[in-house]
Amino acid sequence: MKKTILLTGGAGYIGSHTAVALIESGYDVVIADNLCNSSKQAVERVGKITGTTPKFYEIDVRDKESLSKVFEENNIDSVIHFAGLKAVGESVKKPVAYYRNNLDATLTLLECMEKGNCNNIVFSSSATVYGEENPIPYEETMPRGACSSPYGWTKAFTEQILIDASKADPELSVVLLRYFNPIGAHSSGLIGEDPNGIPNNLMPYISQVAVGKRDSLTVFGGDYDTPDGTCRRDFIHVCDLAEGHVKAVGYCEEHKGSEIFNLGTGTPYSVLEIINAFEKVNDIKINYTIGNRREGDLPQFWANAEKAQNILGWSAKKTIDDMCKDTWKWQSTNPDGYEK
Ligand code: NAD
Ligand code: UFG
Repeated sequence: MKKTILLTGGAGYIGSHTAVALIESGYDVVIADNLCNSSKQAVERVGKITGTTPKFYEIDVRDKESLSKVFEENNIDSVIHFAGLKAVGESVKKPVAYYRNNLDATLTLLECMEKGNCNNIVFSSSATVYGEENPIPYEETMPRGACSSPYGWTKAFTEQILIDASKADPELSVVLLRYFNPIGAHSSGLIGEDPNGIPNNLMPYISQVAVGKRDSLTVFGGDYDTPDGTCRRDFIHVCDLAEGHVKAVGYCEEHKGSEIFNLGTGTPYSVLEIINAFEKVNDIKINYTIGNRREGDLPQFWANAEKAQNILGWSAKKTIDDMCKDTWKWQSTNPDGYEK
């Protein structure tokens, strides 16, 4: 029988790509999302790509009554918990809203899972939990560090909540996925990243300059102690990341306790290398200037990606050129993102 996976926040950027990967791997997918940072169109387009539109509940995951109903109406085998607010800068200005949303969502979800007899949860964590103190590349055995934002702390606290819950309940299986820098889009150009307002992240900013929505990109800092003076990150194609979730769900269903996996490529690229790759592969000039450093940015970090390879049998396959090409396909065919 087909297994059913609930994706909280499944209408979002990573959730929608993961929905495609799960459906293509033979799973049934149910999505619960309040659409606070996404569009129902993403769910419909998952249907266009795969031929199967996921069952969709427009609910706030913190609403216990509504979420309980999702478990009552569906035989949920596992949950992938994407739902959360994710803008680092906004979290500094609105810490209480971030803690309220991201922590409450997890607590309510755990209560509903217990009631609904669902024991498997995969959580979207972030490389930000390694903090500033750890040496690079980051390994899962390293202690969590001091996070640079309330957003980061919601990830660190949620990790701890889930680890504690798994210690207390021998039936519970928890997989914590620490994403590095997801970019790119599905190669169909039908789904992709659709940020509200001015993008905070590098790739959506580059693609909005390319499509003419923004005049120029500011590169935040050209005087770092890195090979070309700009920051370096472990950029990973969102479809590779999505495949990592399929493997993680399989692992989660067969194990108990908690396990942490980095999802990254293991190879860093600089901001300038990304701009150059985007220009070359898409034959488009990106206007940019080198500006001041952005507060809170680390000079460089990337993953040791061996654990996911050894235990999940997963590694990233797509290149930087794929990431730039697929981003442009999405942005050029959907210049304003999903229809609002
Ligand atoms: P996204 O904003 O596109 O997706 C998150 C989804 O959660 C959105 O569709 C939003 O509407 C929904 N949501 C938020 N709060 C909710 C609530 N209370 N109830 C129901 N739905 C709610 O973000 P994304 O990039 O797809 O990220 C998914 C997850 O991965 C997030 O938890 C994010 O923090 C984490 N993550 C993202 C990145 C990244 O760079 N994109 C990196 C590390 C971790
Ligand atoms: N950058 C620019 N100009 C821009 C946007 C970004 O130069 O307009 C640079 C940043 O300074 C950084 C790099 O591009 O050096 C990547 O920046 P992003 O904002 O795309 O990604 P971050 O590495 O800052 O963010 C990631 C995750 C977050 C996480 C954060 C913590 O997306 O989820 O790391 O470090 F919280």
